[in-house]
Amino acid sequence: MEAQRNVLPILFLAVILFLLQCVLPQRVAISSQIERRALLDLRSSLGLREKEWPIKADPCTSWLGVQCLNGTVRNIIVSGLRRTRLGRLSPRFNVDSLVNLTQLVSFNASGFPLPGSIPDLFGSQLAHLEVLDLRSCSVSGSIPASLGNSSRLASLYLGNNNIAGSIPLALGQLSNSKFLDLSGNSLTGSIPSSFGSLANIERLELASNYLSGSIPPGLGSLKGLEVFNVSDNNLSGSIPSQLSNLSRLLELDLSKNSLYGSLPEEFKMLKSLQKMVIEDNMLDGPLPIDLFSSLIQLQVVDLSGNKLDGVLHGTFWSMPNLRFFDVSSNNFTGPVPALSSNHTVSMAAVFNLSNNFLYGTLKFSLGRFKSIDITGNYFQDKVVDNSGRNATVDRNCLQALNQRSSDDCRLFYTERGLSFDNFGEGNKIRPRAAEARFESRKRWIFILAGVLGGICFIIILVLVLVLLLRRYDKGIRNQRGSGNIGPVPEGDSPQLPKDSTNVDGSGDPFTYEQLLQATGKFCGTNLINHGHSGDLFRGVLEGGIPVVIKKIDLSSFKKELYMTGMDLFRKLSHARFVPLLGHCLEHETDKLLVYKYMPNGDLANSFYRATNSDDDSLKSLDWITRLKVATGAAEGH
Ligand SMILES: *[C@@H]1O[C@H](CO)[C@@H](O)[C@H](O)[C@H]1NC(C)=O
Ligand SMILES: *[C@@H]1O[C@H](CO)[C@@H](O)[C@H](O)[C@H]1NC(C)=O
Ligand SMILES: *[C@@H]1O[C@H](CO)[C@@H](O)[C@H](O)[C@H]1NC(C)=O
Ligand SMILES: *[C@@H]1O[C@H](CO)[C@@H](O)[C@H](O)[C@H]1NC(C)=O
Ligand SMILES: *[C@@H]1O[C@H](CO)[C@@H](O)[C@H](O)[C@H]1NC(C)=O
Ligand SMILES: *[C@@H]1O[C@H](CO)[C@@H](O)[C@H](O)[C@H]1NC(C)=O
Ligand SMILES: *[C@@H]1O[C@H](CO)[C@@H](O)[C@H](O)[C@H]1NC(C)=O
Ligand SMILES: *[C@@H]1O[C@H](CO)[C@@H](O)[C@H](O)[C@H]1NC(C)=O
Ligand SMILES: *[C@@H]1O[C@H](CO)[C@@H](O)[C@H](O)[C@H]1NC(C)=O
Ligand SMILES: *[C@@H]1O[C@H](CO)[C@@H](O)[C@H](O)[C@H]1NC(C)=O
Ligand SMILES: *[C@@H]1O[C@H](CO)[C@@H](O)[C@H](O)[C@H]1NC(C)=O
Repeated sequence: MEAQRNVLPILFLAVILFLLQCVLPQRVAISSQIERRALLDLRSSLGLREKEWPIKADPCTSWLGVQCLNGTVRNIIVSGLRRTRLGRLSPRFNVDSLVNLTQLVSFNASGFPLPGSIPDLFGSQLAHLEVLDLRSCSVSGSIPASLGNSSRLASLYLGNNNIAGSIPLALGQLSNSKFLDLSGNSLTGSIPSSFGSLANIERLELASNYLSGSIPPGLGSLKGLEVFNVSDNNLSGSIPSQLSNLSRLLELDLSKNSLYGSLPEEFKMLKSLQKMVIEDNMLDGPLPIDLFSSLIQLQVVDLSGNKLDGVLHGTFWSMPNLRFFDVSSNNFTGPVPALSSNHTVSMAAVFNLSNNFLYGTLKFSLGRFKSIDITGNYFQDKVVDNSGRNATVDRNCLQALNQRSSDDCRLFYTERGLSFDNFGEGNKIRPRAAEARFESRKRWIFILAGVLGGICFIIILVLVLVLLLRRYDKGIRNQRGSGNIGPVPEGDSPQLPKDSTNVDGSGDPFTYEQLLQATGKFCGTNLINHGHSGDLFRGVLEGGIPVVIKKIDLSSFKKELYMTGMDLFRKLSHARFVPLLGHCLEHETDKLLVYKYMPNGDLANSFYRATNSDDDSLKSLDWITRLKVATGAAEGH
């Protein structure tokens, strides 16, 4: 037992040492003098330091980042190396001597400044080149078309440089290419359709450029594509449905472009998809019904900032790997389906459903998730279990703080023919109050409609009355009541209210003849006041009753009505101060109102006094009342 215990670690160490010897590159000195010369040239053209590339030592065995196989240089990694002070003064992309390293397989300068443009030699002379990594090298100029001749090139990384111009069509010839990263440059033009022949491509990253045009449908034939990232460009057009043939796709990022149209129905075929990021585009239309139930591998879904609409199907509760789900700032509507116990969604998920038109009762507990944001929707009723404290529920119709106004919510729900619970106050107790608020908001519309309607009504009525009164005239000639307030005689007009208790009643009918007599044929000595809409005359009726008669000129009356507008109705009540005794409507243009003479007051003042009484009696205004009001208002100006 004891012996075995001591032997085991020793055996283990021996195995490790043996493995290490196999894995470590064999320390064989550089065999070719041409290659040695080439490396020395490279050392000086890049301005590398003695510390890492000691001039006397053998490059294959001693230079940092130089890897050889059997004495031949295969890989050069200058990333992480520093230049001499002299080299830093004028760094250049001068690697011409690489042409004599004919067996070179990879050149990695990632992060090493190489200002200048990419030399042609990589594509035209390094026949064995498989890896070219120039990420973050301050490279400028354009991509040489010759790179397309690099038949073995599997990985081309040119990300985060200042490369401009368009992507050469020839890059589509890189049939062995697996990784192509051109992101973070200033590339313009479109994505070459020749990219459809990158038969072995696995990662295609073109993000953060100025690429325009549409996504070539031919990309759908890239059977091995796992990552497709064209985020943050200027791409337009719709998303080609052919992309749904990318059965191995794991990450799709089309965000921050100007893509429009709907999300292709066929996208539910992307069975491997883990990240679907299409935010900030102009997509519209509904999502395919069974999208989320088909794509159960999804971990990240970001569709925010589009114009997607339709309902959110509850299938998104059934994505077991979901970590992030953002559909905010779209036009999604409808209730959000209930979360039931057999839904497999992870508690670690972050949900953002904000700024949509979602409504109804929250049928899931907010505290269940790491974070959920439902701001800016129309959810109503109670907030279920907000214990997570990571739920944001502002600007809804919920029984919580910082919600929308009652009017806003009510309007939303009534527009859709749905019932609104009015913040839990029910439909029995508060609806009248709520309705009153709603009414008051809309009141001005009704008033405006009333005024305009009233104007039309009066014009028509005046015309009708002129005709009617001729017939009516004979019937009333001898019927004179004695009260101040009398019912409006029947037959006057069917539209006139017949409320005999109305203080604003029309009084008794007088004949034109009677009033001519009373005022001495409206002689000048009886004229009290000359007004805009008519003149005031002093007069004495047959029984010796002193009266004031108002002679209204209809033509000016109409004009005034338009001009005084709503103010008319505020002046309604002056009739209370000067009781109306009667009227005479026989004459075609001169309509007459007969008022009681008020000896104890300033007559004119009595007439113009107007209080700000409410417009309660608006609905029961008969036209004579309106006439009184209108003239009163006109006089007031
Ligand atoms: C290593 O190089 C020698 C000659 O330089 C050659 O004979 C040998 O076959 C090479 N070995 C390998 C594995 O390439
Ligand atoms: C490559 O090697 C040959 C032979 O030594 C030499 O003449 C030529 O100048 C070298 N090329 C470069 C670019 O260094
Ligand atoms: C290039 O070198 C950097 C730094 O060592 C490394 O992170 C990167 O993976 C390398 N590139 C390739 C393609 O191996
Ligand atoms: C690619 O190689 C072919 C044949 O070797 C040549 O004719 C063509 O000019 C090369 N293209 C570029 C862009 O260098
Ligand atoms: C796409 O590329 C951009 C820029 O490189 C990056 O920020 C983003 O995270 C990438 N998208 C995905 C899904 O990885
Ligand atoms: C984006 O594309 C539109 C046309 O599709 C073009 O008018 C606009 O200039 C482009 N913007 C940039 C920054 O390239
Ligand atoms: C997907 O590929 C198949 C065959 O490879 C083809 O018949 C089909 O039309 C393709 N679908 C789309 C949407 O391009
Ligand atoms: C949800 O998305 C909106 C933008 O659509 C953003 O403003 C908000 O911060 C997001 N909420 C959370 C919790 O990240
Ligand atoms: C989305 O909603 C906004 C705001 O209501 C509306 O203006 C727009 O027309 C809607 N878009 C679609 C496509 O329904
Ligand atoms: C839950 O599972 C049961 C049994 O599998 C099924 O009948 C029911 O429809 C499921 N409920 C939901 C909401 O998926
Ligand atoms: C709230 O959400 C943030 C980010 O989404 C997360 O880091 C934090 O752990 C969450 N807090 C709780 C209590 O879940």
